Amino acid sequence: MEPTPNRILSADALVVFGVTGDLAHKKIFPALYAMARSGALNVPVVGVAASKLSLAQLYERVTNSINQAGKIDDQGAFDHLLSLLRYVGGDYNDPGTFKQLKQVLGDARRPAHYLAIPPVLFEKVIKGIGAAGLANQARVIVEKPFGRDLASARELNRIALSVFREDAIFRIDHYLGKEAIMNILYFRFANSFLEPIWNRNCVASVQITLSEDFGVKGRGAFYESAGCLRDVIQNHLFQIVALLAMEPPAYQGYGAVHNEKAKVFQAMRPLQPDDVVRGQYAGYRKEPGVAKGSDVETFCALRLFIDSWRWQGVPWYLRSGKCLTTSVAEVMVELKPPPQRLFDDSAPVDGPANYLRFRLAPNSAVALAARVKRAGKEFIGDQHELYLLEEQPGEETPYERLLADAMAGDGALFTREDAVEAAWAVVDPVLDAHHRAHTYKPGSWGPKQADALIAGDGSWHNPQ
Ligand code: BG6
Repeated sequence: MEPTPNRILSADALVVFGVTGDLAHKKIFPALYAMARSGALNVPVVGVAASKLSLAQLYERVTNSINQAGKIDDQGAFDHLLSLLRYVGGDYNDPGTFKQLKQVLGDARRPAHYLAIPPVLFEKVIKGIGAAGLANQARVIVEKPFGRDLASARELNRIALSVFREDAIFRIDHYLGKEAIMNILYFRFANSFLEPIWNRNCVASVQITLSEDFGVKGRGAFYESAGCLRDVIQNHLFQIVALLAMEPPAYQGYGAVHNEKAKVFQAMRPLQPDDVVRGQYAGYRKEPGVAKGSDVETFCALRLFIDSWRWQGVPWYLRSGKCLTTSVAEVMVELKPPPQRLFDDSAPVDGPANYLRFRLAPNSAVALAARVKRAGKEFIGDQHELYLLEEQPGEETPYERLLADAMAGDGALFTREDAVEAAWAVVDPVLDAHHRAHTYKPGSWGPKQADALIAGDGSWHNPQ
């Protein structure tokens, strides 16, 4: 495949559809403010929503949003952001709304259209943009969830591609904008010591845990239509798997990374019901918007295989859930024990095997655990961690990074059509055909059936 250029031209306007919504309030305005502060925002920002809103009311929303996320500590940047704001109010069914948008966009030729709207509106808005002639040289930024199964993802791709070129479609998975996750790619391919052991010969298993100590936080209705597998595993956790499992990219352009990530999803064995343990925290059914007899999972653990030359036979265990013991995200790559037991305390008899641990949240770190000899006559020792990295100050938030990249036309941290569809193909067989969810106690590590899933290969590592 031809190397893809590293970017298309920068956008000369940003259109935020759904500017009065939750996502804009929680993530987009704070990100825009951060971009204004760093000098990265110098184009008009046109908010679009159904309600009739005055500019003063929009300013008020923006002010509240930024104050809630942090504080306005740079009045100049804040005033600059406000000076860039425009507003278009109108129904997405009405072509007049898009006409008005065209007028407000004026001379802008390469707008970035950000769909911060519910997925049911994607088709309508994408077609409205196309019909109004606002798609030429433009790009579209699409929020997750990108589809809710393979068929809907394909359909959404078809609609988006009928109006925009693939390199003008920026599908957001905010995990790709996190420093700790970008570091997986960097750490793997900027060092030479890892490659010889990074395969089925030396890796016994891989575990990824993304746990949260809070519930659905008022998003019961959304959760009822999604569940944990769709909400975080098919996207965020699978992206982490892809970065850990991919082959080295063939060249420096980001197209090469996309190619290798897509191959990982294509090599994943489609899940079967026995590969998946679903759980629901006690009390979930009392959340607003949740059905009394709901079987939707707020916890999901699964065993995954990647049928590739590198990973054949290595089990990947993924789990995520709400209302668990603590909020943490961690990858644990467990290595095989040495071929011969030359010391009485060699793994796996005494303690855990060597491992590599990627801490992703709340702080980030890479740790390599190896045994070293204790002082004394005996050849016995302990496992210690070489601690490689801690969080660095000055990190951009994922939304700041991703929004700036999409505006600049850099698609490295976004997902590609074929990869998204291949990832859905892996989970598709168990979206409807699955065992019932087991109830678990809030504050626990999920249902005990998840322990049985991993029992053949050890036990879950519960990050602190
Ligand atoms: C979102 C999910 O995509 O990711 C949420 O919808 C989840 O349910 C969140 O809590 C986790 O993201 P982060 O960045 O807080 O780890």
